[in-house]
Amino acid sequence: MQINIYKDYSTLSFYTAMEIITLVKMKPDAVLCLAAGNTPALAYNMLTQQAIAEKVDFSQCTFIGLDEWVGIPPENEGSCHYFLQQNLFKPLNISRSNIYLFDALINDLKQECEDMDNIIASVGGIDLMLVGVGMNAHIGFNEPGIPADLYAHVIALDTGTQSVGQKYFKQNTRLEKGITLGLKHLQEAKKVIMMANGKHKAEIIKKALEEPIRTDIPASIVRTHKQALVMLDREASSLLNKDIIVCNEIR
Ligand code: F6R
Repeated sequence: MQINIYKDYSTLSFYTAMEIITLVKMKPDAVLCLAAGNTPALAYNMLTQQAIAEKVDFSQCTFIGLDEWVGIPPENEGSCHYFLQQNLFKPLNISRSNIYLFDALINDLKQECEDMDNIIASVGGIDLMLVGVGMNAHIGFNEPGIPADLYAHVIALDTGTQSVGQKYFKQNTRLEKGITLGLKHLQEAKKVIMMANGKHKAEIIKKALEEPIRTDIPASIVRTHKQALVMLDREASSLLNKDIIVCNEIR
């Protein structure tokens, strides 16, 4: 695992965008699993601008959804589906046939999970999984305590996740369950980027990177991945004990 610290959110976002672009230039048919949420929003904005300016071809890439709120339709502006559509797929003009997102309205969610596991296997696994970190250290919707050997699954959301999640919605919304890739997918991805910014993430980042690796801190599992890159801005890294954690300060 490598930890890079950038001076601010904008620099962090720029370098994150560059990581994705560099990968796609090297492997035009890359399989990408990119989180929704506030953390990567600016990176996606920079990515799409740069990709358009440089004519980087994303047309052969496959996009795999990380997670979705169960029961929330794709046209709801708070859904992960809507976020990815607006911030990535539309600007990059990605063909529908290259996008695999969870259908969170389907009756048979268990089958939906199996289908997603099979899709990932059939495309040869995930090349890059880019994840954010929840305030409770969740990754995707892998809430604290979830076994690390699970693939896609449906999960009851923590009360914290239910209330923090309201920030994505225009009106108060019932968010009881999530459908998500599992930590096993994260461990099997060829590369993982975990991103965090802001003072509000500093405490959970400290826990994830300094406390013993364990399932009640799902983000700590990232440390078991040989090709993990943790990308932080200075604020999110501010509580790290730099005497015990090796960080690259990127200026
Ligand atoms: C979103 C996702 C979540 C978020 C996390 C952080 O697809 O998987 O785990 O990455 O909740 O959210 P933000 O970035 O909004 O702070």
